[in-house]
Amino acid sequence: MPDIEQIESELGINTKAAIIEPIQHPVLAENNVDLKIKRDDLLHPIISGNKWRKLKYTLQNALSKGNEHLISMGGVYSNHLHALAYIGNKLNIKTTGLIRGEQPVEDNQTLADLKKWGMNLEFVSRGMFRELRKYRSHDADPAKKYNGFWIPEGGASHDALRGVAEILKEIELDFDTIALACGTGTTLAGIAKGLPSTKKALGFSALKGGGFLEKDIKKLLRTKGMPNWSVNFDYHFGGFAKTNEELIAFIEEFESHNNIPLEPLYNGKMLFGLLDLIKNDRFKKGHKIIAIHTGGLQGHRK
Ligand SMILES: Cc1ncc(COP(=O)(O)O)c(C=O)c1O
Repeated sequence: MPDIEQIESELGINTKAAIIEPIQHPVLAENNVDLKIKRDDLLHPIISGNKWRKLKYTLQNALSKGNEHLISMGGVYSNHLHALAYIGNKLNIKTTGLIRGEQPVEDNQTLADLKKWGMNLEFVSRGMFRELRKYRSHDADPAKKYNGFWIPEGGASHDALRGVAEILKEIELDFDTIALACGTGTTLAGIAKGLPSTKKALGFSALKGGGFLEKDIKKLLRTKGMPNWSVNFDYHFGGFAKTNEELIAFIEEFESHNNIPLEPLYNGKMLFGLLDLIKNDRFKKGHKIIAIHTGGLQGHRK
């Protein structure tokens, strides 16, 4: 079995950098709620946030099976492909990214990085991309087609849960709720898996019509119930990557009071939602919440 701790140090992953910081916001004192944030965005300058957590044991599994080619899928701003391409480059592993939609005339910064790190890119139609979403196992059809190891969209695999659950081992403070943004729900599933039943995980869907999320999370957890987790669907702001002036103003204000950068796709929406729920008395006085900053800042470089 490849030594994943050694690979982690070769890549420069620094879990000690992912500190827990208090959040400054007037709503917190007014409602007597304690909110802190775990800065997983500081785990690594490139493989930031939940990306490494999800890929860690997937990578170990792939390497232990002797794979030298990792194939996955994502959008033109994909944080997941960005991390995967970098890992492939550093560890000298071939990577292929199947990208949603037509090839843009000009590469954005994410695509330019993928190319720079040697990822083989193939642009697939939106219909084909939807089809690809159904492949979940590492040896599914795309693995056969490209002769390698298939990683589902967003790294949504069972192997991902173990890496995500390690976040909890780094939290020594007492808390009642852990909050985070959801795309595929894999990060929430990993947290829920490692969380005792006395504590709750609360996910915020970044997507409109994210109803599939609860089903997918149960599938990943191989359970029917939802004993210690739930998903809030009220703060997607019209859908994935959609924003409005209120959200942008919130992020600007948040960043001016906290030295913590946010992006509007995941973490901005999650913190907006969380503070709105706090404002509306949805948590008991004295409630302790830890939010997880899942990174994603590369997709929003200015
Ligand atoms: C920055 C960021 N936060 C949150 C998520 C959502 O994670 P998940 O797909 O595990 O729900 C993603 C997608 O992977 C992401 O890029």
